[in-house]
Amino acid sequence: MTQPMPHVARMAPYTLVKVPAGDDHTLISLSQNESLRPPSPKVVKAASSVLTRSMLYPDPDWTELRLALAQHHELNAEYILCGNGSLDLIGCIARVFAGPDRSILAPEYAYPFFRSATQMANARFDIARESFLTVNVKAILDSVVADTGIVFVANPGNPTGTRISGGELERLRAGLRPDILLVVDEAYGEFADHLGESCFDMVNSGNTVILRTFSKAYGMAGFRVGWGLFPPAVAAEMRKVMNPNNVSAVSQAAAIAAVQDEKYMRETCEITTQLREEATTKLKDAGFDLFPSFTNFVLIDMGDPETAQNAEAALRRNGILVRPQGGVGLPHALRMTIGAKQDNEAAISILAQCKKEHAR
Ligand SMILES: Cc1ncc(COP(=O)(O)O)c(C=O)c1O
Repeated sequence: MTQPMPHVARMAPYTLVKVPAGDDHTLISLSQNESLRPPSPKVVKAASSVLTRSMLYPDPDWTELRLALAQHHELNAEYILCGNGSLDLIGCIARVFAGPDRSILAPEYAYPFFRSATQMANARFDIARESFLTVNVKAILDSVVADTGIVFVANPGNPTGTRISGGELERLRAGLRPDILLVVDEAYGEFADHLGESCFDMVNSGNTVILRTFSKAYGMAGFRVGWGLFPPAVAAEMRKVMNPNNVSAVSQAAAIAAVQDEKYMRETCEITTQLREEATTKLKDAGFDLFPSFTNFVLIDMGDPETAQNAEAALRRNGILVRPQGGVGLPHALRMTIGAKQDNEAAISILAQCKKEHAR
Protein backbone atom coordinates (compact mmCIF):
# COMPACT_ATOMS: atom_id res chain seq x y z
CA MET A 1 0.00 0.00 0.00
CA THR A 2 1.13 3.55 -0.64
CA GLN A 3 2.55 5.04 2.54
CA PRO A 4 2.09 8.65 3.62
CA MET A 5 5.11 10.75 4.49
CA PRO A 6 6.26 9.77 8.01
CA HIS A 7 5.41 13.18 9.49
CA VAL A 8 1.85 12.86 8.17
CA ALA A 9 1.53 9.28 9.46
CA ARG A 10 2.49 10.56 12.92
CA MET A 11 -0.23 13.24 12.89
CA ALA A 12 -3.67 12.95 14.46
CA PRO A 13 -6.47 14.50 12.38
CA TYR A 14 -7.63 17.95 13.53
CA THR A 15 -10.65 17.34 15.75
CA LEU A 16 -13.81 19.41 15.97
CA VAL A 17 -16.76 18.78 18.26
CA LYS A 18 -18.75 15.78 16.98
CA VAL A 19 -22.00 17.12 15.57
CA PRO A 20 -24.56 14.41 14.76
CA ALA A 21 -25.08 14.10 11.00
CA GLY A 22 -28.26 15.49 9.45
CA ASP A 23 -30.10 18.73 9.65
CA ASP A 24 -31.17 18.73 13.29
CA HIS A 25 -32.31 22.29 13.93
CA THR A 26 -33.14 21.51 17.55
CA LEU A 27 -29.41 21.19 18.33
CA ILE A 28 -27.84 24.26 19.92
CA SER A 29 -24.21 24.57 18.88
CA LEU A 30 -22.16 26.65 21.28
CA SER A 31 -19.03 24.77 20.26
CA GLN A 32 -17.40 26.52 17.29
CA ASN A 33 -17.44 30.24 18.12
CA GLU A 34 -19.80 30.95 15.29
CA SER A 35 -21.76 34.20 15.34
CA LEU A 36 -25.11 34.41 17.09
CA ARG A 37 -26.44 36.39 14.09
CA PRO A 38 -26.61 35.44 10.41
CA PRO A 39 -24.65 37.61 7.97
CA SER A 40 -26.02 41.03 7.05
CA PRO A 41 -28.92 40.91 4.54
CA LYS A 42 -26.66 42.99 2.24
CA VAL A 43 -24.13 40.14 2.29
CA VAL A 44 -26.77 37.57 1.35
CA LYS A 45 -27.99 39.81 -1.50
CA ALA A 46 -24.47 40.41 -2.84
CA ALA A 47 -23.64 36.68 -2.72
CA SER A 48 -26.88 35.73 -4.47
CA SER A 49 -26.34 38.29 -7.20
CA VAL A 50 -23.15 36.60 -8.50
CA LEU A 51 -24.44 33.00 -8.45
CA THR A 52 -25.43 33.06 -12.12
CA ARG A 53 -21.81 33.85 -13.07
CA SER A 54 -20.52 30.72 -11.34
CA MET A 55 -19.23 29.22 -14.61
CA LEU A 56 -16.31 31.66 -14.25
CA TYR A 57 -13.30 31.31 -11.97
CA PRO A 58 -13.06 33.89 -9.20
CA ASP A 59 -10.59 36.81 -9.20
CA PRO A 60 -7.33 35.14 -8.07
CA ASP A 61 -6.07 38.49 -6.75
CA TRP A 62 -9.20 39.36 -4.72
CA THR A 63 -8.81 42.85 -6.22
CA GLU A 64 -12.09 44.43 -5.14
CA LEU A 65 -12.07 42.77 -1.75
CA ARG A 66 -8.55 44.00 -1.06
CA LEU A 67 -9.53 47.51 -2.14
CA ALA A 68 -12.61 47.43 0.10
CA LEU A 69 -10.53 46.25 3.07
CA ALA A 70 -7.76 48.75 2.35
CA GLN A 71 -10.19 51.63 2.09
CA HIS A 72 -12.11 50.65 5.19
CA HIS A 73 -9.10 50.11 7.44
CA GLU A 74 -6.89 52.77 5.79
CA LEU A 75 -4.32 50.19 4.69
CA ASN A 76 -2.18 49.60 1.63
CA ALA A 77 -4.03 47.04 -0.56
CA GLU A 78 -0.66 45.71 -1.73
CA TYR A 79 -0.09 44.24 1.75
CA ILE A 80 -3.32 42.23 1.81
CA LEU A 81 -3.68 38.52 0.98
CA CYS A 82 -6.96 36.61 1.27
CA GLY A 83 -7.47 32.98 2.18
CA ASN A 84 -10.06 30.25 2.26
CA GLY A 85 -10.63 31.13 5.90
CA SER A 86 -7.67 32.19 7.99
CA LEU A 87 -6.85 28.48 8.43
CA ASP A 88 -5.72 28.52 4.80
CA LEU A 89 -3.33 31.41 5.51
CA ILE A 90 -2.02 29.83 8.73
CA GLY A 91 -1.26 26.58 6.87
CA CYS A 92 0.55 28.44 4.06
CA ILE A 93 2.61 30.53 6.50
CA ALA A 94 3.79 27.33 8.23
CA ARG A 95 4.67 25.67 4.91
CA VAL A 96 6.65 28.70 3.70
CA PHE A 97 8.53 29.63 6.88
CA ALA A 98 8.91 26.39 8.86
CA GLY A 99 10.11 22.84 8.23
CA PRO A 100 12.41 20.13 9.58
CA ASP A 101 15.09 22.66 10.50
CA ARG A 102 12.86 25.63 11.42
CA SER A 103 10.53 25.33 14.40
CA ILE A 104 7.36 27.13 15.46
CA LEU A 105 6.79 28.64 18.90
CA ALA A 106 3.40 29.50 20.44
CA PRO A 107 1.93 30.10 23.89
CA GLU A 108 0.99 27.09 26.03
CA TYR A 109 -2.80 27.27 25.45
CA ALA A 110 -2.62 28.53 21.89
CA TYR A 111 -5.17 27.91 19.17
CA PRO A 112 -4.72 24.17 18.38
CA PHE A 113 -4.50 24.64 14.62
CA PHE A 114 -1.08 26.29 15.09
CA ARG A 115 0.18 22.89 16.20
CA SER A 116 -1.53 21.08 13.30
CA ALA A 117 -0.07 23.51 10.76
CA THR A 118 3.35 22.92 12.32
CA GLN A 119 2.96 19.15 11.99
CA MET A 120 1.85 19.48 8.36
CA ALA A 121 5.05 21.45 7.70
CA ASN A 122 7.08 18.68 9.36
CA ALA A 123 8.42 21.18 11.90
CA ARG A 124 8.85 21.05 15.68
CA PHE A 125 6.25 22.81 17.85
CA ASP A 126 7.56 24.53 20.98
CA ILE A 127 5.42 26.15 23.65
CA ALA A 128 5.97 29.04 26.05
CA ARG A 129 4.35 29.18 29.48
CA GLU A 130 1.32 31.46 29.95
CA SER A 131 0.39 33.39 33.10
CA PHE A 132 -3.22 33.29 34.24
CA LEU A 133 -4.21 31.91 30.82
CA THR A 134 -2.72 35.00 29.21
CA VAL A 135 0.19 35.27 26.75
CA ASN A 136 3.42 35.95 28.65
CA VAL A 137 5.80 37.94 26.43
CA LYS A 138 8.85 37.29 28.59
CA ALA A 139 8.20 33.52 28.55
CA ILE A 140 7.96 33.59 24.74
CA LEU A 141 11.21 35.52 24.42
CA ASP A 142 12.89 33.13 26.88
CA SER A 143 11.67 30.13 24.83
CA VAL A 144 13.15 31.25 21.51
CA VAL A 145 15.89 28.89 20.33
CA ALA A 146 18.37 28.99 17.48
CA ASP A 147 16.03 27.34 14.96
CA THR A 148 12.81 29.25 15.86
CA GLY A 149 11.31 30.43 12.56
CA ILE A 150 7.80 31.58 13.47
CA VAL A 151 6.03 32.78 16.62
CA PHE A 152 2.23 32.41 16.45
CA VAL A 153 0.10 34.39 18.91
CA ALA A 154 -3.71 34.66 18.80
CA ASN A 155 -4.84 37.96 20.31
CA PRO A 156 -7.42 37.71 21.78
CA GLY A 157 -6.66 34.07 22.42
CA ASN A 158 -8.70 30.97 21.70
CA PRO A 159 -9.61 29.07 23.90
CA THR A 160 -8.51 31.47 26.64
CA GLY A 161 -10.45 34.57 25.50
CA THR A 162 -7.80 36.77 27.14
CA ARG A 163 -5.67 39.36 25.36
CA ILE A 164 -2.45 41.32 25.67
CA SER A 165 -2.09 45.04 24.91
CA GLY A 166 -0.69 46.57 21.72
CA GLY A 167 2.30 47.70 23.78
CA GLU A 168 3.01 44.12 24.87
CA LEU A 169 2.86 42.94 21.25
CA GLU A 170 5.35 45.63 20.30
CA ARG A 171 7.59 44.52 23.16
CA LEU A 172 7.36 40.97 21.80
CA ARG A 173 8.32 42.09 18.28
CA ALA A 174 11.20 44.20 19.57
CA GLY A 175 12.56 41.28 21.60
CA LEU A 176 12.44 38.71 18.78
CA ARG A 177 15.29 38.23 16.33
CA PRO A 178 14.51 39.97 13.01
CA ASP A 179 14.64 36.65 11.14
CA ILE A 180 11.68 35.31 13.17
CA LEU A 181 8.26 35.88 11.62
CA LEU A 182 5.69 37.02 14.21
CA VAL A 183 2.11 36.10 13.28
CA VAL A 184 -0.64 37.84 15.24
CA ASP A 185 -3.92 36.02 14.65
CA GLU A 186 -6.76 38.46 15.33
CA ALA A 187 -9.67 36.15 14.49
CA TYR A 188 -11.61 37.80 17.34
CA GLY A 189 -10.04 41.24 16.82
CA GLU A 190 -13.32 42.97 16.00
CA PHE A 191 -14.64 42.16 19.48
CA ALA A 192 -11.72 44.16 20.96
CA ASP A 193 -11.51 46.96 18.36
CA HIS A 194 -13.30 49.37 20.72
CA LEU A 195 -10.13 49.36 22.85
CA GLY A 196 -8.40 51.24 20.01
CA GLU A 197 -5.23 49.15 20.07
CA SER A 198 -4.93 48.06 16.45
CA CYS A 199 -1.58 46.47 15.68
CA PHE A 200 -1.95 46.79 11.89
CA ASP A 201 1.04 49.20 11.81
CA MET A 202 3.29 46.36 12.98
CA VAL A 203 3.28 45.01 9.41
CA ASN A 204 5.74 47.81 8.63
CA SER A 205 8.38 46.02 10.71
CA GLY A 206 8.81 43.77 7.65
CA ASN A 207 8.60 40.57 9.69
CA THR A 208 5.12 40.65 11.26
CA VAL A 209 1.86 39.30 9.80
CA ILE A 210 -1.60 40.17 11.12
CA LEU A 211 -4.52 37.86 10.34
CA ARG A 212 -8.26 38.51 10.49
CA THR A 213 -11.36 36.58 9.43
CA PHE A 214 -14.96 37.04 8.32
CA SER A 215 -15.92 33.91 10.27
CA LYS A 216 -16.59 35.43 13.69
CA ALA A 217 -17.88 39.01 14.08
CA TYR A 218 -19.21 39.10 10.49
CA GLY A 219 -21.11 35.83 10.96
CA MET A 220 -19.70 34.35 7.75
CA ALA A 221 -17.93 31.14 8.83
CA GLY A 222 -19.64 29.21 6.02
CA PHE A 223 -18.26 31.54 3.33
CA ARG A 224 -14.65 30.75 4.34
CA VAL A 225 -12.89 34.11 3.96
CA GLY A 226 -9.84 35.15 5.94
CA TRP A 227 -7.40 37.94 5.19
CA GLY A 228 -4.12 39.23 6.45
CA LEU A 229 -1.57 42.01 6.26
CA PHE A 230 1.75 40.71 4.97
CA PRO A 231 5.02 42.59 4.39
CA PRO A 232 5.56 42.58 0.58
CA ALA A 233 8.55 40.18 0.67
CA VAL A 234 6.58 37.73 2.85
CA ALA A 235 3.49 38.05 0.61
CA ALA A 236 5.58 37.26 -2.48
CA GLU A 237 6.74 33.95 -0.96
CA MET A 238 3.22 33.11 0.25
CA ARG A 239 1.86 33.56 -3.27
CA LYS A 240 4.08 30.72 -4.48
CA VAL A 241 2.38 28.12 -2.26
CA MET A 242 -1.18 29.44 -2.04
CA ASN A 243 -3.80 27.64 -4.09
CA PRO A 244 -4.86 29.88 -6.95
CA ASN A 245 -8.57 30.77 -6.91
CA ASN A 246 -8.75 29.99 -3.20
CA VAL A 247 -11.72 32.25 -2.39
CA SER A 248 -14.90 31.64 -4.40
CA ALA A 249 -16.52 34.47 -6.34
CA VAL A 250 -19.61 34.19 -4.13
CA SER A 251 -17.49 34.54 -1.00
CA GLN A 252 -15.53 37.48 -2.39
CA ALA A 253 -18.77 39.32 -3.26
CA ALA A 254 -20.17 38.51 0.19
CA ALA A 255 -17.04 39.75 1.97
CA ILE A 256 -17.00 43.04 0.03
CA ALA A 257 -20.62 43.68 1.05
CA ALA A 258 -19.76 42.81 4.65
CA VAL A 259 -16.89 45.31 4.78
CA GLN A 260 -19.24 47.95 3.40
CA ASP A 261 -21.83 47.19 6.09
CA GLU A 262 -19.68 47.90 9.12
CA LYS A 263 -22.74 49.02 11.11
CA TYR A 264 -24.24 45.51 11.05
CA MET A 265 -20.99 43.90 12.22
CA ARG A 266 -20.61 46.47 15.01
CA GLU A 267 -24.17 45.72 16.17
CA THR A 268 -23.31 42.02 16.27
CA CYS A 269 -20.27 42.79 18.44
CA GLU A 270 -22.38 44.92 20.80
CA ILE A 271 -25.12 42.29 21.15
CA THR A 272 -22.52 39.57 21.68
CA THR A 273 -20.62 41.59 24.26
CA GLN A 274 -23.77 42.34 26.21
CA LEU A 275 -24.87 38.69 26.21
CA ARG A 276 -21.33 37.61 27.15
CA GLU A 277 -21.36 39.93 30.15
CA GLU A 278 -24.80 38.64 31.20
CA ALA A 279 -23.58 35.03 30.86
CA THR A 280 -20.40 35.87 32.80
CA THR A 281 -22.42 37.34 35.67
CA LYS A 282 -24.72 34.30 35.77
CA LEU A 283 -21.77 31.90 35.72
CA LYS A 284 -19.98 33.81 38.48
CA ASP A 285 -23.21 33.83 40.53
CA ALA A 286 -23.27 30.05 40.13
CA GLY A 287 -19.75 29.89 41.60
CA PHE A 288 -17.64 29.52 38.44
CA ASP A 289 -14.24 31.17 38.05
CA LEU A 290 -13.80 33.00 34.75
CA PHE A 291 -11.04 35.03 33.16
CA PRO A 292 -12.22 38.15 31.31
CA SER A 293 -13.08 37.33 27.70
CA PHE A 294 -12.57 39.73 24.77
CA THR A 295 -14.27 37.37 22.31
CA ASN A 296 -17.61 35.70 21.51
CA PHE A 297 -17.02 32.84 23.97
CA VAL A 298 -16.18 32.14 27.59
CA LEU A 299 -13.84 29.54 29.05
CA ILE A 300 -15.41 27.90 32.08
CA ASP A 301 -13.33 26.20 34.77
CA MET A 302 -15.37 23.16 35.89
CA GLY A 303 -12.93 22.36 38.70
CA ASP A 304 -11.69 18.98 37.50
CA PRO A 305 -11.67 16.86 34.31
CA GLU A 306 -14.40 14.48 35.50
CA THR A 307 -16.88 17.29 36.24
CA ALA A 308 -16.05 18.88 32.88
CA GLN A 309 -16.68 15.57 31.10
CA ASN A 310 -19.95 14.95 32.95
CA ALA A 311 -21.14 18.49 32.26
CA GLU A 312 -20.30 18.20 28.56
CA ALA A 313 -22.27 14.93 28.40
CA ALA A 314 -25.23 16.44 30.30
CA LEU A 315 -25.32 19.41 27.92
CA ARG A 316 -25.14 17.06 24.92
CA ARG A 317 -28.06 14.99 26.27
CA ASN A 318 -30.01 18.25 26.33
CA GLY A 319 -29.06 19.05 22.74
CA ILE A 320 -26.40 21.64 23.61
CA LEU A 321 -22.84 21.32 22.27
CA VAL A 322 -19.83 23.02 23.88
CA ARG A 323 -16.11 22.45 23.32
CA PRO A 324 -14.08 20.34 25.79
CA GLN A 325 -10.51 21.58 26.19
CA GLY A 326 -8.54 18.42 27.01
CA GLY A 327 -6.69 18.68 23.71
CA VAL A 328 -5.27 22.08 24.69
CA GLY A 329 -4.14 20.90 28.12
CA LEU A 330 -7.15 22.27 29.99
CA PRO A 331 -9.18 19.07 30.63
CA HIS A 332 -11.03 20.73 33.54
CA ALA A 333 -12.44 23.47 31.28
CA LEU A 334 -15.25 23.86 28.75
CA ARG A 335 -15.46 26.60 26.14
CA MET A 336 -18.94 27.97 25.52
CA THR A 337 -19.69 30.19 22.53
CA ILE A 338 -22.06 33.06 23.29
CA GLY A 339 -25.35 32.28 21.58
CA ALA A 340 -28.91 33.55 21.90
CA LYS A 341 -29.93 34.61 25.40
CA GLN A 342 -32.21 31.60 26.03
CA ASP A 343 -29.54 29.16 24.78
CA ASN A 344 -26.87 30.63 27.05
CA GLU A 345 -29.25 30.48 29.98
CA ALA A 346 -30.23 26.86 29.27
CA ALA A 347 -26.55 25.88 29.12
CA ILE A 348 -25.63 27.78 32.29
CA SER A 349 -28.44 26.23 34.28
CA ILE A 350 -27.23 22.71 33.31
CA LEU A 351 -23.61 23.64 34.13
CA ALA A 352 -24.68 25.04 37.51
CA GLN A 353 -26.61 21.85 38.23
CA CYS A 354 -23.54 19.72 37.39
CA LYS A 355 -21.40 21.84 39.67
CA LYS A 356 -23.88 21.45 42.53
CA GLU A 357 -24.11 17.68 42.05
CA HIS A 358 -20.33 17.39 42.04
CA ALA A 359 -20.07 19.39 45.28
CA ARG A 360 -22.40 16.96 47.08
C1 LIG B 1 -7.77 31.99 16.78
C2 LIG B 1 -8.41 31.48 15.54
N1 LIG B 1 -7.76 31.60 14.38
C3 LIG B 1 -8.30 31.15 13.23
C4 LIG B 1 -9.53 30.53 13.22
C5 LIG B 1 -10.05 29.98 11.92
O1 LIG B 1 -10.86 30.88 11.30
P1 LIG B 1 -11.35 30.72 9.81
O2 LIG B 1 -12.78 30.35 9.88
O3 LIG B 1 -11.14 32.09 9.22
O4 LIG B 1 -10.52 29.71 9.11
C6 LIG B 1 -10.25 30.38 14.39
C7 LIG B 1 -11.56 29.70 14.38
O5 LIG B 1 -12.11 29.32 15.37
C8 LIG B 1 -9.67 30.87 15.59
O6 LIG B 1 -10.29 30.73 16.75
